[in-house]
Amino acid sequence: KNDGDEVYKVKLTAPNDAECVIYTYGATVTSWKVQGKELLFVSKLAKLDGTKAIRGGIPIVFPQFGPGKLPQHGFARNTNWKVVDQDNKTGDMATVHFELTDSEATRASEWPYRFRLLYKVTLTGTTLSTIIEYENLDSSAFDFTTLMHTYFRTSDVAGVKVKGLDGIKYVDKILGQSDVVETRKDVIVDKNEDRVYVDVPGEVLVDGVGSEDGRVIVKRFNYKDIVFWNPWEEKAKEMSDFGDDEYKEMVCVEAGSVAKPVSLEPGSKWVGGQLLRLAPKA
Ligand code: BG6
Repeated sequence: KNDGDEVYKVKLTAPNDAECVIYTYGATVTSWKVQGKELLFVSKLAKLDGTKAIRGGIPIVFPQFGPGKLPQHGFARNTNWKVVDQDNKTGDMATVHFELTDSEATRASEWPYRFRLLYKVTLTGTTLSTIIEYENLDSSAFDFTTLMHTYFRTSDVAGVKVKGLDGIKYVDKILGQSDVVETRKDVIVDKNEDRVYVDVPGEVLVDGVGSEDGRVIVKRFNYKDIVFWNPWEEKAKEMSDFGDDEYKEMVCVEAGSVAKPVSLEPGSKWVGGQLLRLAPKA
């Protein structure tokens, strides 16, 4: 059954003991394993029944990042998506395509446009690519912000280093500062962090994913920015779907275009996404 109403999950497998699980709800990837080892974090308290956006994995933020006219982070993460295609013919690579289009509810929202998102999730033995084709089916142009809110699993967040942000300007949402320049080669997590690194040119590497020496490279397609988030102790306690100590087990490194909206003319398409690759050990 695939009428877009029922929440269910799709599992992809690839060589190298690789596996990923995607819920139709929000088209949220909730698990990515390589060599049997989990690389994504999902809270023990996450709702997986379609009553709330899933706390963990890779929720999709669209058409609005953060607070605004729409509820926080938009409607894509708490709408059930449709599976439109699935392919695992070669055995080396598995793919599933999800679709989200405007509905009565979205047309009645503060973002009333006709649109289609085609989300392609592809798994290989060492990579997970999550790419969206955004299409404007409306007669007016529209703007949106979007990202992949990736929650990486860490064995201990104290050992995490995010590389590739040195020299980049960021907005610190906690301190309310913008245009601050990052001067560290290794960005660490030792407090509540909520930053938007703007216009990041190259790849970002997250060191300490899954295990102490697990390294994941985040490569982006057209997505300009990287959001860096950890709620730390106090904020964790305020979240109903996140354990009080779970901030030690995760870090969000979120690829997207959020600092400036993407504008899409009627009838046109834009592609954005990320490729995660488990890198060899340092
Ligand atoms: C991040 C935002 O992307 O998501 C944070 O920068 C926010 O400000 C966090 O707190 C989690 O958001 P939510 O809505 O899933 O609790």
